[in-house]
This record gives sequence, C-alpha cells and structure tokens, in this order.
Amino acid sequence: MNATVVGSQLGDEGKGGVVDLFSEDADVVVRYQGGNNAGHTVVHRGEEYKLRLVPSGVIRGKTGVLGNGCVLDLETLFDEIETLRARGLDPDVRVSARAHIVLPYHRVLDRAEEASKTDGGLEVGTTGNGIGPAYEDKAGRRGIRVGELLDDAVLRDRLEYAVPKKRRLARDVFGIDTGVEFDVDRLFETFRGFGDRLESEEMVVDAGAVLAEMDRDGANVLFESAQGTHIDVDHGNYPFVTSSNPTAGGAITGTGVDPSAVADGRIIGVVKAYLSRVGSGPMPTELSEDAASAVRERVGGFGTVTGRPRRIGWLDVPMLRHAARVNGFTGIVLNHVDALGGFEELKVCETYELDGETLTGIPSTTAEWGRCTPEYRTFETWADRDWSEIRNDGYDALPDAARTYVEYVSAELGVPVYAVGIGPGRDETIVRQHPFGSAED
Ligand code: IMP
Repeated sequence: MNATVVGSQLGDEGKGGVVDLFSEDADVVVRYQGGNNAGHTVVHRGEEYKLRLVPSGVIRGKTGVLGNGCVLDLETLFDEIETLRARGLDPDVRVSARAHIVLPYHRVLDRAEEASKTDGGLEVGTTGNGIGPAYEDKAGRRGIRVGELLDDAVLRDRLEYAVPKKRRLARDVFGIDTGVEFDVDRLFETFRGFGDRLESEEMVVDAGAVLAEMDRDGANVLFESAQGTHIDVDHGNYPFVTSSNPTAGGAITGTGVDPSAVADGRIIGVVKAYLSRVGSGPMPTELSEDAASAVRERVGGFGTVTGRPRRIGWLDVPMLRHAARVNGFTGIVLNHVDALGGFEELKVCETYELDGETLTGIPSTTAEWGRCTPEYRTFETWADRDWSEIRNDGYDALPDAARTYVEYVSAELGVPVYAVGIGPGRDETIVRQHPFGSAED
C-alpha cells in the first residue's frame, strides 16, 4: 500500500509531522516537488528538527528520496545532512539524477523579479530561494539536472549556454550588477564538486526505476508534498503560487512511478484547523491584524523558512472542497485542533457569496476569489486544557465541541478522518485509521 501526503490549504498544515508519523510503516519516503522553500518541523524523541529538503521520514531512519520534480539547492541539502549527522542521526538520502538544481543566479533573479514587482504591488512574497527561476529554466530547457553534474564536458556545455543569457537578463531587464553568481568557471568548479560528492556518497539514483521496482516488490512508499494545494502552479491562486505541483498528480510526474502507484493508494489531505498564509494573495477569511496577532501570540504563527508573520484566517471549507476534488483525498488529518482551544468565538466559512450567488467551491480566477465574501457558520468553542490526557485516552476523549468540528469537516469533504493533531509531537496525534492499514480505534 502506498500513501501520498498533500497539504490542503496554503502550506504550514503540519505535513512534516504527518509524514513522520506514518513513515513508521513505510519503506521509503519520497519528496516529489519543491525545494528549500519548504519548511517541515518534526519532533523526534523530544527534539525538534527543522527540515527544508531532506524528506521528513529520514529522521526515523527511513530512506528518503528527492524525486525528479524537485529543484535542489545542494548547499542547503549538504548542510542539512551534516546537521543531522552532528545530532547523531545517519540520514540516508538519495536524489534523482533527473532532479533539477538551483543555481546561485536563480536566487539573485528571484529577488530581482520580486523587487521589480513591488512598485505595482504585484510581488508574490516568494521565499527568495530561486525556486521560480529554477523551474523556469527547467521548462525553458536550459536547466541543469543532477545527472549532468557528474560529467565535466556536459556540465561545462550546459553552463556556457545558460549563464550568459542569465547575465543579460539580470543586467538588461532587471538592471542589476552581476557577480560571482554568474561566473561560469566558478559555477563549474563548485557544482562539479557537488557532483563528485553526490557520487562518492552514492546519493544519485534513477529514482523512478528504483521506486517502480520497490512498488512491484510490495514496498510501502510514502509520497510527501512540500507545499499546499492552493499554492500549486496549476490548481492554486495563480500568480500567488509556487512553481510546481504539490497536488497528488505531482507525485506521479515528480517521481516517475506508474500513476496507479499513487492513485490506487491512500491520498491524505492534511488540514490545519484554521488557516494561515505566508506571502501575498487573496484570503477571504483573513482576520484583522489585531485579531491575527492575538492568535499568533498563542500559536507561534511565524513561517518556518522565512520567519515572516503568518496571516491568519478562519477555516475555509470552499478551499478544502477544491483540494479534496483536485487531489482525490481518501481521508484527512485535521491538525492544530489544540490551537483553537480557548477561543471566544469559532467560525468556519461554509460558502462564499459572489455577485449575489452562493458558491460552494472557489472560482477559477484569482481576481474573482479575491472578491468572494465568506458566509460563516458558528461553532461552539472548547476550552484549552491539558491535551496530554486526551492523547492517552484517544479520540473519544476530545471535547464534544472539538469532535463536532472535526466531524463537520469530514462530512463536508465526504472522507474519513485518519488522525487528529493536538500538539506538535509524534504522540500528540490521535490516529483513528492508519493509512497503511491498521485501524487504531
Ligand atoms: P516560492 O516557492 O519561494 O517561489 O514562493 C512562492 C509562494 O509560495 C510564496 O507566497 C511563498 O510564501 C509560498 N510558499 C513557498 N513554500 C512555502 C511553504 O513551504 N509554506 C508556505 N508557503 C510557501
């Protein structure tokens, strides 16, 4: 049995913790898109690990694969692996020879493009890690793949073609001075060195072939999305999106497995019990800054990668319906239920009003989405409490009002609840049904 973990909102739903939890029964954990724009927090044996590239299951000692759909900042990857080693772990990370790499000029161009959009208020609020420009080069057939770092002649040819064009783009379009980030010899030396290191540590694999073979042999494969559905480049609120496909279809194209390996498995939508967003774009249920900062005080709402304050809103069910359809969720994990404890009021956006009509899903243009007015349903609140007692006693020990909330979301999406998160730790998730098979209550 395979399972795919997908964020159902705008990121920061707690996917890393869910992958970590369910990876117990997985043989391999595979990231299929994104790069070091992601930030996953995993708590293992009381210690917190913040991961940007290494797949979350690696903390548990599972093999982690970075698929062809990822864009890899190799310096970050090596730093992360070294940090894990320094903390006593032995991370086993493999990278697809087909994955593209992020080059230093991608970061420069990412920031330059964002700066050029600021005057018109068009900035996306990217993480500044060069993700968009790396995917642009992939689609533009001038990117560089991991496998090309292993061959002197190929790497030099690819750099000599791409870099002068990037230099002109930086100077002539964005009006910025170019430095070492655009120096072919320097890039060749650094990235050929990264290639040697990947090769000597036996990290480069034909990931699609390896995973297909494991799948045929009956292994449990866990596919991990790095971002949420609503920042998917196709199904999200374009242009306020990342440049890849976190939605479940991305697990197929981003790893090279046969579509049934994903489609016949479990597809787990991770839902945060409220909504948060880093970066720009509409957010119909967004709270006022005063109300949001009060919530941030309680729940620590700052981006894992950028440290930016998260925008906060009420749970938005039309967004979840869209995510459930696009991804084909077979079940959900509802996280951060503890964070809502002690709220004075609790609202959920059930539908939108747009131009006199009621909408149950989200409109396909972002401008229309920005004009939607939420229609709320109010829920009974529950008090904050010592959640560790509930953790020990299971789902039925949740406050009645919290169970009503959880079951409402499940009924609206027409799928079961695999688990409910009541804290950041692995054992602070109440598992109702394990995606790899065993039911726990
Ligand atoms: P990029 O992926 O750095 O190009 O950023 C594009 C948009 O996606 C921005 O709004 C980012 O804030 C958002 N984004 C990218 N990665 C994450 C993430 O892991 N969590 C939440 N938002 C993200």
